[in-house]
Amino acid sequence: MKLFRTLILTILIALPAAAGAKDGPERLDVIPHPNSVEYGKGHFKAAGAIFNCETGIDERSLAAIRDFSEKMTYVSGYTSTVAVPGGSLRKAVENGKIKGFVYLIENAMEPEEYSIEVTGRNCIVRAADFNGFLYATQTLKQLVDASVFGEKVDPSQKFLIPCMKISDKPRFAYRGLHLDCSRHFFPVEEVMRVLDIMALYKLNRFHWHLTDDQGWRIEIKKYPRLTSVGAFRAGTMIEGDKTRFDGVRHGGYYTQDQIREVVSHAASLGIEVIPEIDLPGHMSAAIAAYPGLSCHDDPMEVPMTWGVFERTLCPGKDATFTFLEDVFTEILDLFPYEYYHIGGDECPKTEWKDCPDCQARIKALGLKSDGHASAEAYLQNYVTSRMQAFLEEHGHKIIGWDEILEGELEEGATVMSWRGTAGGEKASGMGFDVIMTPVEYCYFDQIQAAEGEPFGYGPLTIEKVYSYNPLEGLDEGQQKHILGVQANLWSEYIPDSAHLEYMLLPRLCAMSEVQWCEPEVKEWERFHSALTGKSFRIFKNLGYNFRNKEN
Ligand code: ACM
Ligand code: ZN
Repeated sequence: MKLFRTLILTILIALPAAAGAKDGPERLDVIPHPNSVEYGKGHFKAAGAIFNCETGIDERSLAAIRDFSEKMTYVSGYTSTVAVPGGSLRKAVENGKIKGFVYLIENAMEPEEYSIEVTGRNCIVRAADFNGFLYATQTLKQLVDASVFGEKVDPSQKFLIPCMKISDKPRFAYRGLHLDCSRHFFPVEEVMRVLDIMALYKLNRFHWHLTDDQGWRIEIKKYPRLTSVGAFRAGTMIEGDKTRFDGVRHGGYYTQDQIREVVSHAASLGIEVIPEIDLPGHMSAAIAAYPGLSCHDDPMEVPMTWGVFERTLCPGKDATFTFLEDVFTEILDLFPYEYYHIGGDECPKTEWKDCPDCQARIKALGLKSDGHASAEAYLQNYVTSRMQAFLEEHGHKIIGWDEILEGELEEGATVMSWRGTAGGEKASGMGFDVIMTPVEYCYFDQIQAAEGEPFGYGPLTIEKVYSYNPLEGLDEGQQKHILGVQANLWSEYIPDSAHLEYMLLPRLCAMSEVQWCEPEVKEWERFHSALTGKSFRIFKNLGYNFRNKEN
């Protein structure tokens, strides 16, 4: 009889559990979707729950957890506090003595990896590093409700998290966003907002395009004219028409103190900042400030048109390298991370052909045109390798646009493949590390639909962005060299912050799944429903301007 009762009880308990596993949420509206989810039954009540953190959790993680607890308190009306109880938190959890959120350090986990185990009693987060704890917290914020991103108190919301086990880590280590602050200048506050939304979707590299023909945007104390002259232009061409100008002076730059603030804010969001000083082409703004940096001394204005300019730095002059080394020397302590981007794209060599200094350098180096590349292309390799050596001496690696592959490239450089995927395929085959940013999937300066959009290149739909698989067609050896993927936001036709956000959102979300999710986890229908449901509410609550359309 007893055995029979036990059996019945077991069946009664097991049945709803099994049914519950099916009845639970079939998919999460979290973007990027976690790579592994096992659904359970029941819910964890997040409102009013205490955040228990293991002793030893780093300050940045604690700050992110505290921020989440404060938001929960505010929107739910129930107080959530952060506690770092002494003694063994693990044992206390195992013995059922702790209720609420629990953050545990799990050193065996990989960088950026995290897990979340949700039961009716606890929500246990495990990670080895700050990014892991941060991403777990971002996932939890999306799970509880979009209102945690807002300013509205909503005690009617239940703030329940379904019981489940999430095990998650990124597909790619490098998950980037590039922002061109030269073609149009964006204030520090907007750069911060871009970083905030990146972190929400688990991006971790901010490629800051700080110099280009139409504006030099970083204070260099040794060369004040770079910003007093090079940071401003007299006007801007209208749409694609090189004969019409708006006549409005445009410009601005970031002081070194502001750069420090941005880098520090990014660090608090698990984002490394990679500065780009684009050289030796795309240097008109610097040349307008110091004409002698080019192959001749003629004065010039900071350009008001877009395009590729024949006038570049002169690699024949030693003064050019002194200038570049001075600039990098000044910024070395601003950007503490591994990578510096040195551009290298779209550098016409027309003026080098007629420049006595350039030709003398070519001769001295013994550079010769061959079936592979011109002597002038090899001269650009010389510029790249000198800057690479300089930065390596200071403990950094270089990234360059895929043009740096032309001629020959020194070991240790990383190639950013933008002219399609061919550069990335070639470079990875040659053993170079690669970041994929092909124009046909990753250029967010393109408009988001064929019709009804503001002026711009394109279109590039969100669905197309979502469809990108950066490893497609690459063999195993090549795949190992693909560090990751990046969206590029060039700003020729993006005059202000509202427009910037519009071009970024919601395509950034699609990019985040390309960067984070394993191919089998990506699913357009699930993504689109999470996007237009929860993520659109998140954007609204945070006050971002976004393209609020279904497709
Ligand atoms: C580029 O789009 N010129 C890198
Ligand atoms: Zn020259």
